[in-house]
Amino acid sequence: MSKYIVRKAERLCGAVKISGSKNSALPIIAASMLAEGETVLYNVPRLTDIENMCGIIRCLGGSCQWSNDELHISFRKPKTYIAPYELVTKFRASFLLIAPMLIRVGKVQIPLPGGCPIGARPIDLHLKGFTALGAKITQGHGFIEAKARKLCGTRIYLDFPSVGATENIMIASVMAEGETVIENAATEPEISDLADFLVKMGGKIQGAGTDRIVIEGVSRLKAVSHKIIPDRIEAGTYLTAGVMCRSDITVEDVIPEHIKPVMAKFSEMGIEVFENENSVRIISPSKFRHTDIKTLPFPGFPTDMQSQFTALMSVAEGTSLIVETVFENRFLHIPELSRMGAKIKVDGRTAIVDGTKTLTGAKVKASDLRGGASLVLAGLVAEGETEIDCIEHIERGYENFGEKLRSLGADIIKIQ
Ligand code: UD1
Repeated sequence: MSKYIVRKAERLCGAVKISGSKNSALPIIAASMLAEGETVLYNVPRLTDIENMCGIIRCLGGSCQWSNDELHISFRKPKTYIAPYELVTKFRASFLLIAPMLIRVGKVQIPLPGGCPIGARPIDLHLKGFTALGAKITQGHGFIEAKARKLCGTRIYLDFPSVGATENIMIASVMAEGETVIENAATEPEISDLADFLVKMGGKIQGAGTDRIVIEGVSRLKAVSHKIIPDRIEAGTYLTAGVMCRSDITVEDVIPEHIKPVMAKFSEMGIEVFENENSVRIISPSKFRHTDIKTLPFPGFPTDMQSQFTALMSVAEGTSLIVETVFENRFLHIPELSRMGAKIKVDGRTAIVDGTKTLTGAKVKASDLRGGASLVLAGLVAEGETEIDCIEHIERGYENFGEKLRSLGADIIKIQ
């Protein structure tokens, strides 16, 4: 197991290039299995979740090859319909392979997916969607089996605008017979990126990015090349590090529109935010005000930025309220931040954070991806040394995290 050792950073400065979005790349890699021929993807981050997704596709009979920074994917002849347990259980998005397997093979057996332990994370909405499209779902001990001779378009109302369920249903219905309407669909930028990709391939999709997506099934999809959108959460994380370290930093290769909710909060806190076409710069004063946040589906404040903001609020002036409405168990980082001197009380899905002047370095443990990142950010402003264990969680979602932070002037090393 690897660790990060982080020491207090004086000030960060400079610019950091943001990688492609993991959460966009994963469904797009899955959807590539539908193409006739070889798909080429650009700006795919080299992360363990991506490698594991490619690993599963290879086991199923496809090919996923890196050529410099391009990912080449093709799925000509299926080898098996059983997805490998060891890889599927490592991350949640492995479930996105159900849709392409149903279309290409007509059958798939997949263990229940893994991922961060931030809540129960049921899959009922995904299954409801597949059933409505005509698939037969059976649940065994720890696995799901889905079968379908053909999928037929239908109207599906999601009880919650689930990102994964919207993506899975979009992929499943793009080659279904007739029209599918997804109501109360997720509107995250990753949904629009997937729709753009499917439309390039020849899919007929309207309304992606709104809560009503209409998909007219087509019989063939061609292989295309596509550039993955920038990772809005990675960008938000570096900006938060910059704010915490009272710095002047810029994130480059971003779509500022996607990080609006985060920038709005920075402005409320008294931080200067400069938005350019492809970059965002922040200048953080020596003191900044507290703010309240409530996580919501896009365009609300992203749940994936909540942990980093908890670390930020713990060194702001005043008391902040953080309400997590998306996942029921997403405060796993709080006991660890408390070890470092953060003053946080938790009541159900609400955390009350009393800003303090100093945090102190301690031995802490990452228990999930974004929670782990929040500990690194806290380490950058804590007195002394912070040792962060179980960083494999962090490396599931941040490409070259240590290197990028070091390029901004942070004192962080990785110990294998
Ligand atoms: C995706 C992101 C994750 C982000 C989340 C919310 C990927 C790979 N991951 O996760 O980083 O935190 O969106 O923005 O893109 N739910 C159900 N039944 C279902 C599906 C979901 O009740 O069938 C619930 C979940 O338990 C959760 C809420 O819906 O409380 C949101 O989950 P969802 O939007 O599905 O998140 P993911 O797609 O898993």
